[in-house]
Amino acid sequence: MMEQRWLWLFALDVLVVCGSVFRGICSLRNLSNVEQQLYFSDTKGEKSYVASAEESVSVVGVMSYFTKDKDNFTVFLVGKGYGSHDSTKLISTRILQDYGDWVVFDSIIEASAVQANPFVLRYLHDFRFAFKDGGFVYFVFSRTLGVQDTKNFTFVSRMCEDDQGYYSYTELQLNCSTTNKYNKAQAAYVAAPGQALADHMTKSGQYGAVSASDKVLFVTFTSDEDPSTSAMCMYPVRSINARLVKIIDACYSHSGIINDTSAVYSPYSSKSEELCSSNSPKNMAERYKCGAEFLPSPLASKAEFALTAGSPFVRKGHMTAVAVAVEMGHAVAFLGTATGEVLKVHLSAHPEMYGRASSEGDKVNKNLLFDSSLQHLYITTEKKITKVPVQACHMKTDCHSCINLKDPYCGWCVLEGKCTRKEDCRRSEEENTWLWSPNQQCVEIKAFNPPNLSCKKTRQVRM
Ligand SMILES: *[C@@H]1O[C@H](CO)[C@@H](O)[C@H](O)[C@H]1NC(C)=O
Ligand SMILES: *[C@@H]1O[C@H](CO)[C@@H](O)[C@H](O)[C@H]1NC(C)=O
Ligand SMILES: *[C@@H]1O[C@H](CO)[C@@H](O)[C@H](O)[C@H]1NC(C)=O
Ligand SMILES: *[C@@H]1O[C@H](CO)[C@@H](O)[C@H](O)[C@H]1NC(C)=O
Ligand SMILES: *[C@@H]1O[C@H](CO)[C@@H](O)[C@H](O)[C@H]1NC(C)=O
Ligand SMILES: *[C@@H]1O[C@H](CO)[C@@H](O)[C@H](O)[C@H]1NC(C)=O
Repeated sequence: MMEQRWLWLFALDVLVVCGSVFRGICSLRNLSNVEQQLYFSDTKGEKSYVASAEESVSVVGVMSYFTKDKDNFTVFLVGKGYGSHDSTKLISTRILQDYGDWVVFDSIIEASAVQANPFVLRYLHDFRFAFKDGGFVYFVFSRTLGVQDTKNFTFVSRMCEDDQGYYSYTELQLNCSTTNKYNKAQAAYVAAPGQALADHMTKSGQYGAVSASDKVLFVTFTSDEDPSTSAMCMYPVRSINARLVKIIDACYSHSGIINDTSAVYSPYSSKSEELCSSNSPKNMAERYKCGAEFLPSPLASKAEFALTAGSPFVRKGHMTAVAVAVEMGHAVAFLGTATGEVLKVHLSAHPEMYGRASSEGDKVNKNLLFDSSLQHLYITTEKKITKVPVQACHMKTDCHSCINLKDPYCGWCVLEGKCTRKEDCRRSEEENTWLWSPNQQCVEIKAFNPPNLSCKKTRQVRM
């Protein structure tokens, strides 16, 4: 199963499967019965080529909706890099049913700026992730700044879900480390940080106020300048939105200037800064959250206004995948590597790797998925899918080896004498009955007083 070959999306009861195997044509399958193909056609020509025929061209997508007249359709929004035999559409909206002149998989929005543009082929977009939040769709990708400059930078772009002209499409550069050493996104994941990580993020002063249930974008990066290492950086979605609004507002109302510095440009147009205005009313960015035909677009932040995450989690080798879960209020990152491992990292003020899973040797694909009960993780490589449990507490049979795991999922269940998740330990709500592994403390029974007691008598025992 090739990473680039497959794009899987879930909508209600339909599974969309796309692959380079069929020149990028997609099919629809029944999610309750994936063997059942509901739709596949290779006679509709170019319009049904959603993915790329080239394996090196990565495709990402999310389900969204599109309204027309009184109708509301499920569509999927696709971000795709440029392959030499493909259309130049960076972003497209694909319908999943026949409607009027449209057939399944038709690209139903024409927005020349991000679809038929001479710049597109020079930017070498590499889409890595797409997600939806609060009425917006986001894409995470790297690209260059044009022909002269072949250096890669990472961006997150955002647009409104039902934006039929892509007027709200805006790109924000993401820097990882203060020097942006880690410049090329490889994989990303959105999750709540949980209380402990949220507190650390807030205290660090780098991320603004972060709460346990906020969404945070976790991104792994490689470094073009130093291919021997990679890093993971975190960006609260709230901070991404706030910075995007600043950039958009600068262009709509302040000639593109923030703090006396030019903050914004138009990556897909030859007219550059003159596109921003100074005489429109001040609250245009608020009033036109999804842009409008008369407002400038698409916009991108200049590097000086990139959103920067200053203290990345750095590792030797390449981290090619990321997924994050929260257990006991603590965030755990599962980081896939180019050498086929999945590193387990307890994200705290000082992130600590406490374990590894699966070591098969093949690069872990960027899509790591939890099952619906969050008990298992699906790890995919070029050749196979492996399902591994998120924890294996029960393998440890005494308190010390349980505690030595330093695994946020595990703890020593005193009354049962077992290493378990908290939810699997009876009476774990009582004090000192379940000893959380990362706390590194076993309760030892040093001495009894009195040393023995008849089981027929009731007396106070001191330990
Ligand atoms: C999908 O599969 C389920 C279970 O086999 C079946 O009940 C349902 O009718 C199928 N849906 C379609 C659209 O064929
Ligand atoms: C269309 O459907 C989506 C998803 O079901 C929903 O979120 C959205 O509000 C609907 N839009 C309209 C205009 O009905
Ligand atoms: C940018 O990334 C591409 C792969 O997407 C790579 O081939 C190229 O060498 C990178 N550019 C630089 C300057 O390292
Ligand atoms: C603009 O400058 C102020 C004061 O130096 C600073 O607090 C603020 O973060 C700057 N804005 C941006 C978007 O960099
Ligand atoms: C982001 O990184 C680039 C170098 O890649 C640098 O020029 C720019 O100033 C950085 N932006 C911020 C806000 O640190
Ligand atoms: C129990 O303790 C008593 C003293 O309290 C002692 O005399 C007796 O030998 C102990 N019995 C055993 C089986 O240890």
